[in-house]
Amino acid sequence: AFANPVVTNPKSCGRPNLPAGAKPIPCCPPKIDSDNVTDFVFPPKLPPRVRKPAHLLTADEAAKYKEAIRLMRALPDDDPRSFTQQANIHCAYCHDSYVLNGSTAPPQVKVHFNWLFAPFHRWYLYFYERILGSLIKDPTFALPFWNWDHPDGMYIPDIFADRRSSLYDAKRNANHLPPVLIDLNWNRRLGDTSGDSGINLNKVYTNIAAVKAPDTFFGKNFDQGGGQFNASGTLELLHNTGHSWTGDPTDPNNEDMGSFYSSGRDPLFYSHHSNVDRLWTIWKDKFGGVDFIEDDYLNSSFLFYDHDGKLIKVNVKDSLDPSLLGYKYDDVPIPWADAKP
Ligand code: C2O
Repeated sequence: AFANPVVTNPKSCGRPNLPAGAKPIPCCPPKIDSDNVTDFVFPPKLPPRVRKPAHLLTADEAAKYKEAIRLMRALPDDDPRSFTQQANIHCAYCHDSYVLNGSTAPPQVKVHFNWLFAPFHRWYLYFYERILGSLIKDPTFALPFWNWDHPDGMYIPDIFADRRSSLYDAKRNANHLPPVLIDLNWNRRLGDTSGDSGINLNKVYTNIAAVKAPDTFFGKNFDQGGGQFNASGTLELLHNTGHSWTGDPTDPNNEDMGSFYSSGRDPLFYSHHSNVDRLWTIWKDKFGGVDFIEDDYLNSSFLFYDHDGKLIKVNVKDSLDPSLLGYKYDDVPIPWADAKP
């Protein structure tokens, strides 16, 4: 049993375990020099980068975001900061590419179905956001969030739907383009149902506001959850719908958003996760939620390339306070706070 997955050796990344029908891709990061892994240090204290609702961006803010993604797409595929490599991070960490520390078992690090879900994705966004900021030379750049927990944000934000934009992705469900309201209870197998904003708010209330215990909210520990069986928390379960509802059901694995290996290819992924990350902060700040304190949790670690192309080792402990990472969320209304079903 390995309760504390420590990914310290990038060379331990192997072939991903992709779903049937997926075009084989190597998901592991490029240009690996495992002697050159630097421990994460907190960024200098600056005014926080403020993540805003994607549907409320000014024309200027939207233009910056599009330009940043355009530049990221223009990087060569073997640049660890490139659009392709950034998407592959999700593939590698989600399809068993990494070996657990000290394990001789087949690769099996998974960042879903267990308590690593929230901190892994926070780190992923942290580096992604800073890469985008450095590409447009704007250190204040912040990843907008898809505000699907507010009636005005319960559809794919327009900036992602414009076909000429770098934020567009063709592999989405053609029946779910704006202004179709998301159904946060959507189940792909049951076919199309129409979203209802009141019922959606009930769902967010149930999965966030009404939850007290960390293992209910974040999921079970890695040992119990490790992917052997589903031990997801309510935060992850709520977030799954955004993936399956957005992906294209005519693709073999509901690509792009509907499958781990491909979801990072849709720019909407990162704004979806920006909202998931925001719900974690709200749960703590407004609903009395508390983080795990187990060492196995706090010492779990991951590897990411930063905006300078340096390989950085981060741990869960350093992810728990967004203010130390230099960002915060715009304080917009929370219409689900009392939306008890
Ligand atoms: Cu790693 Cu939204 O999934």
